[in-house]
Amino acid sequence: MKKIYTELQNHADEIKQSHLRDLFTEDPNRFNRFHVDWQEFLFDYSKNNITDKTMALLIRLAKESGLKQVIHDMFTGKRINTTENRPVLHIALRNRDNHPILVDGKDVMPEINTVLEKMHTFSDSVRNGKWLGATGQRITDVVNIGIGGSDLGPAMAVEALKHYKTDALNFHFVSNIDGTDMIENLKTCHPETTLFIISSKTFTTLETLTNATTARKWLVDSLGENAVSKHFVAVSTNKMAVSEFGINPDNMFVFWDFVGGRYSMWSAIGLSIMLAIGYDQFIELLTGAYEMDRHFQTAPFDKNMPVIMGLLSVWYSTYLKAEGYAVLPYDQYLKRLPAYLQQLDMESNGKSVKKDGTSVNYSTGAILFGEPGTNGQHSFYQLIHQGTHLIPADFIAPIHSLNEVGDHHTLLLANFVAQTEALMAGKTSEELRAEGVSENLIPFKTFSGNRPSTSILIDRITPKTLGSLIALYEHKVFVSGIIWGIDSFDQWGVELGKQLAKKVIPELSDKNKELRHDSSTNAIIQKIRNNQ
Ligand code: F6P
Repeated sequence: MKKIYTELQNHADEIKQSHLRDLFTEDPNRFNRFHVDWQEFLFDYSKNNITDKTMALLIRLAKESGLKQVIHDMFTGKRINTTENRPVLHIALRNRDNHPILVDGKDVMPEINTVLEKMHTFSDSVRNGKWLGATGQRITDVVNIGIGGSDLGPAMAVEALKHYKTDALNFHFVSNIDGTDMIENLKTCHPETTLFIISSKTFTTLETLTNATTARKWLVDSLGENAVSKHFVAVSTNKMAVSEFGINPDNMFVFWDFVGGRYSMWSAIGLSIMLAIGYDQFIELLTGAYEMDRHFQTAPFDKNMPVIMGLLSVWYSTYLKAEGYAVLPYDQYLKRLPAYLQQLDMESNGKSVKKDGTSVNYSTGAILFGEPGTNGQHSFYQLIHQGTHLIPADFIAPIHSLNEVGDHHTLLLANFVAQTEALMAGKTSEELRAEGVSENLIPFKTFSGNRPSTSILIDRITPKTLGSLIALYEHKVFVSGIIWGIDSFDQWGVELGKQLAKKVIPELSDKNKELRHDSSTNAIIQKIRNNQ
């Protein structure tokens, strides 16, 4: 075992003996040493269970893990997704200085720029009413059909950037194979004015193809087969499957297998985002991500936000044995951010086998959850404040609201600030006694404190700052994955359930089919069969 691992483990035992309240009292300069001021961001990680020694050890760990080299490898198109033998080039999609990025000697930028221009022309024509439905009417509703990375990124970003969205279009995101998702969304849509975007990297995903088939039938039943070309476009890497489905290749926007599903909102998978906010603001979104990419590539590790965040994840999961991780946006527009980050983080780093095929003997990615503040405060914060689990939390808030109403934003920010202070300092029995709290309630009203949080304060939510924020989390996930020695870009763990579902499908519809599962699975299938 590397010496650094032992040193970190020993240091973790030391840190458990310290209290954040004391660390702040002993060192009035603590904030200065543990924050990064960058563009519209203030990244304050001083309320984490760390000292200078912790950060020095973690940065040494990053160096000994070859992080610098792997960052370089990603940005230069090396095949760092080893189990799928692919480069990892979502960063090329927002390469705003357009420098060549070579894969097997070929620059990927010209194709990326061509697709971006095609998205530009198409989104302009839908937004300005030049693109008409089959009966000559303007499009009023856009329905993105996709799941996982082909849904969560666009759905999160369209919600986050609602303030910047055109009023001329309504957006719907259908992902679940549960027919209710489709039916409820179509209730407010009319075939003559609805545009479907079928988004699927592989174009083989059961949920998406089933939903797309239902949507196609809904349209064709009303407007006939010829209407499909005016109401369906596809985003995929699989040209053949798209044309087999009956979507005109002219209506197809391609991307490439070097873009992972959960990293794809910057590609044509972001078409609904561009339709919502327009080309120029979509470029702002890419620019924000590009700026974060530059920061990630160039800032020294001790001033590098994604590196610090990734190292903190390792510190908490592996060394302090935290199993959970909360992301708490104090902004209603960011309400889908936790759902988006669940896929980004848990599908990337929910792994127990290293790149060399051996098993890990330490904890990797944590269980991510979250809700917008202040809603979460009235729900699960109890456990974060007084429960038995260590839950590091990211608090995210804009200084300026996009909707100034009375003193709402001041109250929101007051809660944002107060929660991190409460988690850090807690409340002692002495303080309670001084307030006259009766002795029998003191154990219940005591807050241990010493609970870690990171505050990410952003000037305001704009396409650009959202781009930077998402790229920050992408790279944070990448950094932790490198340290853990896992492949953050595959997702073999989703395959088994998909295969078994295929086997169960005919068993549900054919009552005579013999069942050869375990007794629980057999009984459940039998119960469904008997009651269908
Ligand atoms: O099942 C997991 C997954 O492969 C995700 O990684 C991906 O984002 C999602 O399914 C959707 O896949 P596709 O875009 O190919 O339909």
